[in-house]
Amino acid sequence: MHKIVIFGAPGVGKGTQSQLLSEKLNLYHLSTGEVLRKAISDETDLGLKAKKIVESGHLVSDDLMIEIVVDALKNNVKGTEGFILDGFPRTIEQAGALDNILKELGLDDLKVLHLVANDDEIIKRLMLRGRTDDNAETIKLRLKVYIDSTKPILEYYKPDRKIIEVNGIGEIEDVFNKIVSYLQ
Ligand code: AP5
Ligand code: MG
Repeated sequence: MHKIVIFGAPGVGKGTQSQLLSEKLNLYHLSTGEVLRKAISDETDLGLKAKKIVESGHLVSDDLMIEIVVDALKNNVKGTEGFILDGFPRTIEQAGALDNILKELGLDDLKVLHLVANDDEIIKRLMLRGRTDDNAETIKLRLKVYIDSTKPILEYYKPDRKIIEVNGIGEIEDVFNKIVSYLQ
């Protein structure tokens, strides 16, 4: 059973690599950003609450995000070879809540895949893609939020979690092959 958190800055390749990994290993891929974007486009209650926050680059509240992830893990992991979380946890509070739910489900001992790239590469990628939150001002805030609120999770994980650091720069396929070999 694979229990993976893919971790890293905006634009580092979390979604791209999660997609490939989930296909190769039959994993349930949960991207909290995708859940929010779908809710926004469907104009659900969640979407209406999240729209301004996501488009500005701030974080949606821990309570809302934790509820989404707990429900999703309870309902979607059965019948797979495990899961990969992409974009969650993003705060220490989310990391703590994740530990609790995984313990409850008997799915603890997470592996943390930490993808790394420099800011210049990230900005270049995101400006090329052009999602509604991919403009210069929002990218700058997303990078700051990452440093201030999300990156500290690595310290939380360090004492007893396996953290695999992978260089996220290079061809998508080469990055993927490195990840696969580290997971084996
Ligand atoms: P989220 O959707 O998670 O966005 P993000 O973390 O900013 O990351 P991205 O999706 O932009 O990048 P990625 O790392 O997935 O890279 P990708 O593979 O797409 O979150 C969006 C927002 O939702 C947040 O700002 C927040 O508001 C909210 N949110 C989400 N989760 C939350 C949570 N847990 N708590 C609170 N709020 C939350 O690649 C990027 C681009 O680069 C693509 O165009 C891709 O094709 C390209 N690319 C990928 N790999 C390579 C490569 N090796 N070489 C060249 N180009 C590449
Ligand atoms: Mg993504």
